[in-house]
Amino acid sequence: MDSTGWHLQRWDRLTCDALHAIYVLRQRVFVVEQRCAYLDADGHDPRAWHLWHDPGTGLDACARLFAPGVKYPEASVGRVVTAPEVRGTGLGRRLVAQSLLALESIAGEVPVRISAQAHLERFYKSFGFVTEGSAYMEDDIPHLAMVRPSGGVVTL
Ligand SMILES: CC(C)(COP(=O)(O)OP(=O)(O)OC[C@H]1O[C@@H](n2cnc3c(N)ncnc32)[C@H](O)[C@@H]1OP(=O)(O)O)[C@@H](O)C(=O)NCCC(=O)NCCS
Repeated sequence: MDSTGWHLQRWDRLTCDALHAIYVLRQRVFVVEQRCAYLDADGHDPRAWHLWHDPGTGLDACARLFAPGVKYPEASVGRVVTAPEVRGTGLGRRLVAQSLLALESIAGEVPVRISAQAHLERFYKSFGFVTEGSAYMEDDIPHLAMVRPSGGVVTL
């Protein structure tokens, strides 16, 4: 953990408490808030790095990161989520920026592919992601394939 509350850990080094807190936030938002009956524990977590933020009062943001060649040929970020009570405070922007910096520390300067909820296209574009093709349905929610070329600058 660093002094700002960010943690980055491989699956096999996660504690039960950290994993539980990650699953609580993801299910609270992706299943309950978004009213989407889908399998959050989809089998990819063991191959991911897990990034989360806990300022000392509990986990309020997380994402999972894949090195190149694991989920896609490119690196990837998924399950990007902040707790409803901290939305609009800039934590979501910091989460994506920290994810890109963490991927850089894991894999170097590499392209990053995401499957983004379509209404967040502008948010991800602001980090240098470029939309590929048109929207498709994933778990009944419109998504867009977006790729960020390698070498972009990340500012926190
Ligand atoms: C997407 C999410 C992580 C953003 O977190 P946040 O804490 O609200 O982020 P910030 O306060 O840093 O705001 C980030 C930007 O996202 C935009 N944004 C957030 N929710 C949005 C929405 N539903 N529709 C459109 N834009 C949205 C904000 O307007 C803001 O834009 P700005 O920087 O130009 O002002 C958060 O809303 C979330 O967890 N949503 C539910 C889970 C989800 O859908 N995750 C994305 C999967 S691809």
